[in-house]
Formats: sequence, C-alpha cells, structure tokens
Amino acid sequence: MRSFTIRTKQIQESRIVCRENIMRSALQHQLAAYREVFFFSDRTVWELYGRKVGRTYRDAPFFIMQPGEENKTPETLFKLLSAMAEAQLHRGACLVALGGGVVGDIGGRAAALYMRGIDCIQVPTTLLAQVDSSVGGKTAVDFAGVKNLIGAFRQPKLVLADPCFFATLPPREIRCGLGEIVKHGALSGELFDKLWENTDRLYDLDFLAEIVPENIAYKAEIVRQDAQEAGLRKCLNLGHTTAHAFELSDGKLSHGEYVLVGILFEAEIAKERAEEADAAYLDRLETLCRRALGEMPPLPDAKDAARLARMDKKNRDADEVVLTVPVARGRYALVTLGYDAYAAALARIRERL
Ligand code: NAD
Ligand code: GLY
Repeated sequence: MRSFTIRTKQIQESRIVCRENIMRSALQHQLAAYREVFFFSDRTVWELYGRKVGRTYRDAPFFIMQPGEENKTPETLFKLLSAMAEAQLHRGACLVALGGGVVGDIGGRAAALYMRGIDCIQVPTTLLAQVDSSVGGKTAVDFAGVKNLIGAFRQPKLVLADPCFFATLPPREIRCGLGEIVKHGALSGELFDKLWENTDRLYDLDFLAEIVPENIAYKAEIVRQDAQEAGLRKCLNLGHTTAHAFELSDGKLSHGEYVLVGILFEAEIAKERAEEADAAYLDRLETLCRRALGEMPPLPDAKDAARLARMDKKNRDADEVVLTVPVARGRYALVTLGYDAYAAALARIRERL
C-alpha cells in the first residue's frame, strides 16, 4: 500500500491512499467517523459501482448526474447542493465523490461550498482522475464557455485510488489518463524511464496499476510544495498550451489525447527554440506520445489553434505565447514566442508530424 499526506501551508490536509481492491474496506473504515454520508456520482459509474461501494450505506442520500463534460455546469452544481440541503446534511457530514474528473471537480466544489465546507472523500474511477484530477484540490465547474471558470482550491480529506476501477474503462479513457502520465514522465526522469522501458505495456492494466502510485506521489510532492500554483505547480501545464489551443479549436478529441498531441508539438518547438534541448531524448518522448496515441489523429488548422493560444492564461499580453516545454530527461523550460512565430511553428510542425 502507498499512502501519502500532503501538508500544505494552508489549513487543509489531504491523505491519499492507493491500493488495489482497497476501496470498499477503506471507505467503510473512513466513513465510520461520520454520522452523515452523501454520495455523488454519474449515471455510468453509479450503475457499475454504486451498489458495490454504497452497500453498507443503503440509506445514505445520493445525487447522480448525467455523465460528460457538458454537464460540468453551475446547474449540476446547484442541483447537487439542493439535494444535499434536502438531505439536511450538517457541517460534520462527508460527501463521497465517486467517478471521473467531472464528478470529482463538481463534488469537491459542492463540498467546499456547502455550509462553507464539509469533508470530501474522492474515489476516482478513471485513470486520469487517479493520477491527476483527484490529487491537489483544484475544484471547479465550467461557465460562460470557459473551462473551470468557477472554481477554487480545496483539498479533499482523503483520496482512495483503487486500480480495480480500470477494468471497465474504455480504451479511450485509458488514453486520456496516459496524456497526463506521459506529461509526468516528461517532467520526472524516473517516471520517463519506467514508461520508456514499458512502451508496449501502456494499455496493460497491471502496468497501469503499478505506475499509478508513482504518478500520484510525483503530483502530490509538487502540490505539497506549491498548493496554490504560485510557481512550481505551473510545470504541470507542460504541453497544455498547445493542447488547449487544439482542444478549443476543434474539440473532437478528449483532453488527454490533446495533451499527447500538445507534448509532441512542444517537444518539436523545444528542438527549434530551447538552447538546452536534448534532441535524442525528445525523439524518445515523441515516440512515447505516439505509442500512447495509437494513430496520429487528424488535427485542425494550425492558424486557428495559434489564435486561440493567444488567450492562454499564462500569457502576459496578446502578442506572446508562453509554453512549458520538455527539454531533456527530467527537465523543462519556459519558452516565450511572439504570436507570429508560434503560429508559424505550429503550421510547420503540423506538416512534418
Ligand atoms: P469523466 O469524469 O467525464 O469520465 C469519463 C467517462 O468515463 C465518463 O463517461 C464516465 O461516466 C466514465 N467512467 C468513469 N469511470 C469509469 C469506470 N471505472 N468504468 C467505465 N466508465 C467510467 O472524465 P475524466 O477524464 O475522468 O476527467 C476529465 C475532467 O477532469 C475534466 O473536466 C477536466 O477539466 C478535469 N480535470 C481536473 C483536474 C484537477 O486538477 N482538478 C486535472 C485534470 C483534469
Ligand atoms: N492538473 C494540473 C494541476 O493540478 O495543477
């Protein structure tokens, strides 16, 4: 069993327990401390796992949302809060968010808002949610066409990451999680070596179960040092500027798939622009991205994507684009390009990939 504690400078402390087939017994143990327990999940996950997880809590109130990013809205958040109010939860209650990143982000936000904050236990059921979204206390819903516009940091009391959930995940959801795993690999030399030695096992559930704790430990350490993203945590944006630009411009792939594409592009930009770029390493990183992606997907027009990157939160003004790019094993760099140079680079790289 791997167990981590994030002690941030803020008031909250967050524990993460990661182990196969621990979910029911560990949850039962944790929930014994609460008089009131509320379950939140999406329809797909609840049908697959609701009975199993909630068996001991047959009378516990719950709210089940329709799955999908399109439902990560203030409306769903307020429906959940209404259900919590109807259940007359008190401040000592605990909300259990059982699901992928969408359920986790909304559940975490609702738990933070209800009576100014009740405890939240995250039970992440996707690969992406286990290695990334359930760890670190970013909670949010989308609003006004902008992802995660209404949100705030609040650490969950506990994260129970159990790879048993992967058995029912469609390959596309595995690919999504691999996007963030390869990103961690681009930041950490040890994680990169592990992935590079196992490029033919990226979709093997035993291998994934093996690397989840290492990914959680890596992210937890970054969050421990910089919970509110004042500096270091920004490295977790590696590949994401280009990923978001393509995602906003056509939205046909899922976020993790765009992250893999974003890392591919930004590795090429690093070769062109970053002084300390190690071309042989970056070739290997690109091979890893391609193995995780399977086929290279069709990509939207580079000019449109570059235009959208102008709006990225990291830029200081509309004429520059700031990127966190991989440069060498375990090393990244911040590269700032003028808008025209970035647009030209995207177009050039799109042609040669
Ligand atoms: P998701 O929550 O939409 O889940 C993907 C799909 O898989 C859904 O249809 C869901 O019903 C289904 N599903 C979940 N678990 C399953 C299982 N075990 N078996 C079968 N089907 C299952 O998507 P996601 O990829 O988990 O999360 C994406 C969200 O996470 C985005 O909204 C993104 O913004 C957010 N996110 C947040 C953070 C953060 O730090 N808070 C980080 C990364 C991503
Ligand atoms: N997913 C990036 C972060 O949590 O900071």
